[in-house]
Amino acid sequence: MKLLIDNANLGEIKRIYEFYPIDGVTCNPTILRKEGKNPYKLLKAIRAFIGEDAQLHVQVIGMDAITMIEEGHQIQKELGANTYIKIPVTPEGLKAIKHLASEGANVTGTAVYNQMQGFLAGKAGAKYVAPYVNRIDNLGYDGITVAKQIHDMLKQANLETNILAASFKNSFQVLDLCEYGVGAATVAPDVIDGFIKSDVITSAVDAFTKDFEALCGEDTNMLTIANS
Ligand code: E4P
Repeated sequence: MKLLIDNANLGEIKRIYEFYPIDGVTCNPTILRKEGKNPYKLLKAIRAFIGEDAQLHVQVIGMDAITMIEEGHQIQKELGANTYIKIPVTPEGLKAIKHLASEGANVTGTAVYNQMQGFLAGKAGAKYVAPYVNRIDNLGYDGITVAKQIHDMLKQANLETNILAASFKNSFQVLDLCEYGVGAATVAPDVIDGFIKSDVITSAVDAFTKDFEALCGEDTNMLTIANS
């Protein structure tokens, strides 16, 4: 499963990239608003940091297909071919997805709240569809099940579209979809940190260090004791 950062704060992106194996960055207009900067300036800085090969997913704003298509062209021109144009899966959005996909553009169908929305985006040629797991849960449905069902429907139809599961509030939601084999998940930095944040892990590592120092002396390690 590819793992992307759902955030546009360059400092946070750099911090997460330093420690975790990450495949790219996603954002939406709400995420960009939090940064309060010119979107293209910020996104170009993110692209420069993550490199040309990493995925960057950027959403269009227009409500009609023509505007979405033009925005998509501009997004790719500014940010490179490996930028995924995020298009909400509405009727106008499906029209734009069909058009951009026929040109060979990378498209992500977003704002996906139900199975048929995800299936139609895949059929229209999107490379990814993004079910909003936590937001679906908050409506009283099961976001994980919706994501799994879209995954299965796309595979059964022999479509190459992958799931880019989105809107997570906890590690367990991500783990469940990772086990199931979905193609990608985009996750906020605090939830990524939560994957391996555990007092049990910290105390196990501390105990190993203490035992080694009891054997070899304070502040020693396998480098400092060489040739001693
Ligand atoms: C990604 O495509 C979505 O825009 C994002 O994950 C939504 O997350 P939220 O429900 O936490 O706003």
